[in-house]
Amino acid sequence: MTPYVADPVYLNGRFLALAEAGISPLDRGFLYGDGVYEVIPVYSRRPFRLAEHLSRLQATLAGIQLANPLDQASWTTIVEKLIDAAPWADQSIYLQVTRGADNKRDHAFPSPGVPPTAFAFASPLVTTSPEVRATGVAAITVADQRWARCDLKVISLLANVLARQQAVEAGCAEALLIRDGYLKEGAASNIFVVHNGILLAPPKTQLMLPGITYDVIIELAQAHGQPLAIREIDENELRAADEVWMTSSTKEILAITTLDGRPVGNGQPGPFGEQMWQWYQDFKNTVMRKG
Ligand code: PDD
Repeated sequence: MTPYVADPVYLNGRFLALAEAGISPLDRGFLYGDGVYEVIPVYSRRPFRLAEHLSRLQATLAGIQLANPLDQASWTTIVEKLIDAAPWADQSIYLQVTRGADNKRDHAFPSPGVPPTAFAFASPLVTTSPEVRATGVAAITVADQRWARCDLKVISLLANVLARQQAVEAGCAEALLIRDGYLKEGAASNIFVVHNGILLAPPKTQLMLPGITYDVIIELAQAHGQPLAIREIDENELRAADEVWMTSSTKEILAITTLDGRPVGNGQPGPFGEQMWQWYQDFKNTVMRKG
């Protein structure tokens, strides 16, 4: 069986076997979900948009007032070492930093001497099968019950977890989060809508995670002259959409063809989503060839 996590993992300055990697139960990540994370896709052993992922990590750390324990160069070295040691060409690198373990439980920040916990590992990149891509996936809509700083990639993901579980129990792949009548994103993805030939993307506000894949898609739409509007999408527009896609570092671009039990458009992945998927593959291959 393919292991989910490659050995070694990185923990607080050391590379060691997962079975030997331990943290204190007083770690604030465990007690409070007080930490941040990143998921970076790796193609042919090259991390995709690493600089952008590391700057989002930095922005999230700044957003929760936690000093970055490592500079960009050190993170890059860690990511490269994990990639080299893992057995797969295509991988997903997970990075996490928490506010560390104090000797007591107190909501307020620990004393300045308490070091953050930094953890990272490589796993195989699980891609969508051609069969699933051909049919698209089903999704449900749920009320967005998250906090008001969804732009920060923090590990406190309980509302996302519950939304995704609701989707799974409904036999669906994703839950689309609706707040005040507007589509924000998915439980673990950004959402795009095609309506009357125009690609609609919700704007980057504090109520949506600024996806790295989202940026690539906007750039590709602009580079190919595809009509694009970055604006709020209301629930009615979502339900009248010709195409709906979910996007993320691990899912890339995946058509949602059923929403709340009803077909999206004609119930098949649409032509524009297919085109964007192709542009995305071409872009990935070009970037990878260039190194
Ligand atoms: N999730 N929105 C949310 C809430 C997400 O959790 C993610 C990614 C995205 C897409 O961001 P990106 O394109 O940078 O992957 C949007 C990751 C993959 C996860 O939590 O596993």
